[in-house]
Amino acid sequence: MKKILVTGALGQIGSELIPALRSKYGNENVIAVGHHKEPTEEFRNAGPFETADARNKDEIRALIEKYNIDTIYHLVGVLSAVGEAKPDLAWDVNMTSLKTMLDLAVEYKIERMFWPSSIAAFGPTTPLENTPQQTVLAPTTMYGVTKVAGELLCQYYFVKYGLDVRSLRYPGVISWKTAPGGGTTDYAVAIYYDAIAKGSYDCFVNEKTVLPMMYMDDAVKATLQLMDAAPEKITIRTAYNLTAISFSAKELAENVASHIDGFTCTFTPDSRQKIADSWPSTIDDSKAREDWGWKHQFGLEEISIDMIKNLKK
Ligand code: SER
Repeated sequence: MKKILVTGALGQIGSELIPALRSKYGNENVIAVGHHKEPTEEFRNAGPFETADARNKDEIRALIEKYNIDTIYHLVGVLSAVGEAKPDLAWDVNMTSLKTMLDLAVEYKIERMFWPSSIAAFGPTTPLENTPQQTVLAPTTMYGVTKVAGELLCQYYFVKYGLDVRSLRYPGVISWKTAPGGGTTDYAVAIYYDAIAKGSYDCFVNEKTVLPMMYMDDAVKATLQLMDAAPEKITIRTAYNLTAISFSAKELAENVASHIDGFTCTFTPDSRQKIADSWPSTIDDSKAREDWGWKHQFGLEEISIDMIKNLKK
């Protein structure tokens, strides 16, 4: 039976990937690791929960030994907008923790490891329409810099030590379980929160902004699919391009309005506009589709219906 350690357990991806892993592998076999946030009662009672700093080798080593870990999902990360406010913190958290986890993965002969990259690995000199898998990676945010460095580090550990580490360049992920937390694509989440709470939303990017997006259910599915694939199917050892749908902030607002009577959206771009403008609007993820059968399910309409239904509860 697999013994899985998941860092960043209380973040956007962790909060939903962990329940999915637990229903697949059993509650006791998935160890959730948080750091500074307190889990809800429900989350704490659902399976093993530990507090540790993923930058600290001794703390993580103790958990690997205690639970006999053979698989790691290292999800810790400071996102793009917070990373611009605190670049030193973003570098330290994102890079030190990744290096720590990779070193321990080699030392303990971990069978498989996952680490998330992002569309933030791209930058203004990348072709921003239908962005290819192999392309310019010259981001202008600290978050993006850590994603490119992290991708190369993962590939290095695969080539040098044979570590089976896999990664995805997630697009903006839309979900309802955790409140938006410091990213540039957060507007596509916050709009639903505010639509329900206030009936209006002031969007921090302009209405023409188009970014690649995905519903959390699809993001979880892609992650599990990538990690289930036979090693010979994995031909990309930096990170796979991954997408579902692209839409403008205006189209998003119109779609939300079609579900919530009287909803209005204003647009007041702030410093996050520049970050959004440096990222692709559409992505070519054919490699993921060819190599391990990636296929998304949720379009904008399905996302809106599910977001609104769950947030209303
Ligand atoms: N959603 C992330 C952000 O906006 C991108 O990976 O920072």
